[in-house]
Amino acid sequence: MGPESAFRNKAKLAVGGTKSSPTFGILDAQFNGVDLRDCGLYEPALAAALPALTGQVAALGLMPFDVPARSGELKHLIVTASPDGELMVRFVLRSPGQLPRIRRGLDSLRAAVPAVRVVSVNLQPEHKAVLEGEEEMVLTQDESLAMRLDDITFRLRPGSFFQTNSVVAAGLYRQAREWVSQVDPDSVLDLYCGVGGFALNAAMAKAAHTRRVEGVEVAPEAVASARTAATQLGVAAHFRIGDASALERVAADLVIVNPPRRGIGARLCAALASAAPAHIIYSSCNATSLARDLGDLPGYRVERARLFDMFPQTRHHEVMVLLSRR
Ligand SMILES: C[S@@+](CC[C@H](N)C(=O)[O-])C[C@H]1O[C@@H](n2cnc3c(N)ncnc32)[C@H](O)[C@@H]1O
Repeated sequence: MGPESAFRNKAKLAVGGTKSSPTFGILDAQFNGVDLRDCGLYEPALAAALPALTGQVAALGLMPFDVPARSGELKHLIVTASPDGELMVRFVLRSPGQLPRIRRGLDSLRAAVPAVRVVSVNLQPEHKAVLEGEEEMVLTQDESLAMRLDDITFRLRPGSFFQTNSVVAAGLYRQAREWVSQVDPDSVLDLYCGVGGFALNAAMAKAAHTRRVEGVEVAPEAVASARTAATQLGVAAHFRIGDASALERVAADLVIVNPPRRGIGARLCAALASAAPAHIIYSSCNATSLARDLGDLPGYRVERARLFDMFPQTRHHEVMVLLSRR
């Protein structure tokens, strides 16, 4: 467990209201803005920065996106705080038209909130529930936020996944590293590796000097983040872009999977069953899809299981299991 409040390192703020008086939070059932700037879930550095930061954003005079009318520009403001209190700020816009205005306001934004390291603009031209689009433009010299968890500094680039609760994420990785040390595999494959959380910990676990570590992830920005962190740490972990769910060969002594809520699915379960690694570590944010996938892996028994209160005050949680081949 970590703190019950002030634990979220990321604020995903839907922008509503008007140009002169925008709201930052969520939209209600009628698409009216509900302000959540003072939400008690945000980490202290994030909570402290939001008033000045959103004040600066309001001063830019961007028209909030109006969902029913499909007009306006600024859809979301996404802010991430690092454990050292630095910030990444992402504007999600409908089109690039307001980009020059944001560029012009950059100096004043950084003067008002000196903790801001990375600013980017994401374009989401489509009218759909997915928060972000594919195109991202970084406006600052720094392109990544340093997320220091224990002895590893991850290099989070905009558009990459990072566990939202830094304190509990550190505990999750610590536990995974301990299991890797106990199992002591010669080779590790980390699927859905994101910015490399499990792979880099496997590369830092006991007796790592001869261990081969590889990560596979679909998001190119996350793979770039993982590669930078591995180089800076001086560890031999390799990362590649790929669709983990469609892999046919998963040869490794230990396979780690940490998929999105939908789980790994029958196809990857079948590939795992046929490759038959000695151990699997499965970290899941959805115990229902985890249970379904474990049902598709009858050749494995659950050796250890641990619950992580990654999302306090919700019914969600992270579960990690260590599986051994029967
Ligand atoms: C729950 S996150 C875990 C990330 C990482 N293990 C960590 O600890 O931060 C799931 C990751 O899977 C990636 N992903 C989603 N579908 C994928 C697929 N089919 N193949 C590979 N990666 C995928 C996402 O981009 C995301 O980075």
